[in-house]
Amino acid sequence: MANICVGITGGIAAFKAVTLVRELGRRGHSVRVAMTRSAQKFVGEATLAGVTGTPVLTELFGVPGEPHVALGDWSDLMVIAPATMNAIAKLAGGLTDDPVLTTASCMRGPILVAPAMHHRMWDSPATQRNIRILREDGISFVGPESGPLASGASGMGRLSEPETIADAAEAMLASSGELSGLRVTITAGPTLEDLDPVRFLGNRSSGKMGYAIARAALRSGASVRLISGPVSLRAPQGVELINVRSALELHAAVFDALENSDVLVMAAAVADYRPKTKAEAKVKKSDGAWSIELVRNPDILAEVGATRAAGSHPGLTLVGFALETSDAVERARGKLERKKADLIVANLAADSFGKDSNRVTFVTRSGANAIEQASKDAIAAALVREIASLRTTGRE
Ligand code: C5P
Repeated sequence: MANICVGITGGIAAFKAVTLVRELGRRGHSVRVAMTRSAQKFVGEATLAGVTGTPVLTELFGVPGEPHVALGDWSDLMVIAPATMNAIAKLAGGLTDDPVLTTASCMRGPILVAPAMHHRMWDSPATQRNIRILREDGISFVGPESGPLASGASGMGRLSEPETIADAAEAMLASSGELSGLRVTITAGPTLEDLDPVRFLGNRSSGKMGYAIARAALRSGASVRLISGPVSLRAPQGVELINVRSALELHAAVFDALENSDVLVMAAAVADYRPKTKAEAKVKKSDGAWSIELVRNPDILAEVGATRAAGSHPGLTLVGFALETSDAVERARGKLERKKADLIVANLAADSFGKDSNRVTFVTRSGANAIEQASKDAIAAALVREIASLRTTGRE
């Protein structure tokens, strides 16, 4: 059973935090609470002290005699419920001017945020931007849900039900040790193949899936090396980031990393071809056509698979992606064989490119496991579970 800290911030939904705290306690966890001053206007400190049987952190300078980092140190998981627009903005900005934020800032374990606010606040560009930042920082979310709001309006912004939040918290705790102690290398994003100093051939990969896998692997206790093509995402704190541009650079970085990897996840959209030559100076336009001769890039995944089949890196778990425009699962099976991988994540370009959600099927030698449409973070968490189970059952 885990030590869970519930951070309550000042929204009308704060009253539901009492049920959440009781629910977590009922499930056998030790729960402590931190509250902001405005949360105390909605629900009393005495109620939460009574429900948890421990003092509540209500002051920035902590429970007397305890350093301000103590609660973050104690907690395996922090749940912030409800999280107001203001709390989310402060968290994204790294502010620490209340007991909830101070605790969040020195958490040693993961953080789950359950937002609750008026639907226009939820939809505001600032909130959506801050949510993106926090996701990139590796923070997880549950809800909000759509329905009647305190103002009388209806829309997206309701706090998830306490049972739903408790389920999400337990799912995070369950996944937080799955790849513990393993070294996971993940490739992400596109590769760009230069034609001259200003032009390149590229593809539309956003890198979102690979970055989500990096966050999920970190949460599951792995040490993570992220080899990334050019993307406009921030790497989660705690990963070792290696930036590359071309397929050849990615190839070199992957082979460098192999010696120190237990798992390799090839989520990058590696260019299959590169221009035969790169012009030193910008190619001047002329009236005629420009023919570009392309040569094959190495198939990195297939090379790693072949290396392993030849006896190198026997303990490596090898995961690839198959992005198709049709028959994704069928083609993934072919790829599993040809590239000698352990797992291929099959998906369709129309479901995936640039989006925050996706629909995938995990194809292994022992079968296919279809995951319904879900956020890339949820798919990444499912992939971590699949990898963990592959490693326990061994390669078939
Ligand atoms: O054959 P296809 O490109 O569809 O295979 C996709 C999988 O192979 C992905 O995991 C991708 O990262 C990897 N790949 C690679 N090197 C290439 C092309 C794809 O490692 N040149």
